[in-house]
Amino acid sequence: MWRLRDRRCRKGPIRRSRRSCYPWFHRLATLPNVAECSGRRAACKRRAGRARRTGLECDMDLAGRLAAGIRAAVAGLPGAADFLADWPEGGARRAQVPGVLPVCRWLEGMAGGLGGEVARGAVALEWRQTYGAGDFGAAFLERYGWTEIVGLRGPVPSERVAAGFLLLGPDVTYPAHAHEAAEIYLPLSGVAWWQKGDAAFAPVPVGQAIHHAPWVPHAMRTGAEPMLALYLWRGGDLAAKSVILG
Ligand SMILES: [Fe+2]
Repeated sequence: MWRLRDRRCRKGPIRRSRRSCYPWFHRLATLPNVAECSGRRAACKRRAGRARRTGLECDMDLAGRLAAGIRAAVAGLPGAADFLADWPEGGARRAQVPGVLPVCRWLEGMAGGLGGEVARGAVALEWRQTYGAGDFGAAFLERYGWTEIVGLRGPVPSERVAAGFLLLGPDVTYPAHAHEAAEIYLPLSGVAWWQKGDAAFAPVPVGQAIHHAPWVPHAMRTGAEPMLALYLWRGGDLAAKSVILG
């Protein structure tokens, strides 16, 4: 089943005939038909014309490719074996309601590797925010978002492990928080500063994994660059909101 979702942009109403002239983010925000595919080829063929007109290609299994990319990226990391032991097998998929967030503008320019795949498929993913303006302020919400690929809410169902991507814009601080789930982060793009427990903030380059044991306070902040990182969660309530400490 294809789901159609109207999205309006603060820059104005949808103007299909000139959409391709808009800047990248404006084009994302005005896509009138962000389509989700069930994986049935017949349905894809019927809607192929619409997909081409809206600039969104019919993607048979973006979620499956991203899940496989996450799995491959962390396969050799110390401590990842416990997470991967619970990795879901099979081709089950959960329906999503695709939608981008303001932070997605900073996906532009991420071209290579797994981060590039996230950037190219961003409009077909459901981007979410755990917090509200009352938690860390409205400015934070402009530069923060995540999308779950595997887990209780993502397109690849799992009740034992969650995985997805966290995106932070430049010059933003994600204040100290903690959660029951054990966590692994692996930065894919951009250098951010990370803090664990009482330690000072320290820069973490792309490809260097960060491990958080259950309930260990942690925080991060970005500088001039945005940061995209994959995450894994295991244990506890995989949909729980973190406890805010900062
Ligand atoms: Fe965390």
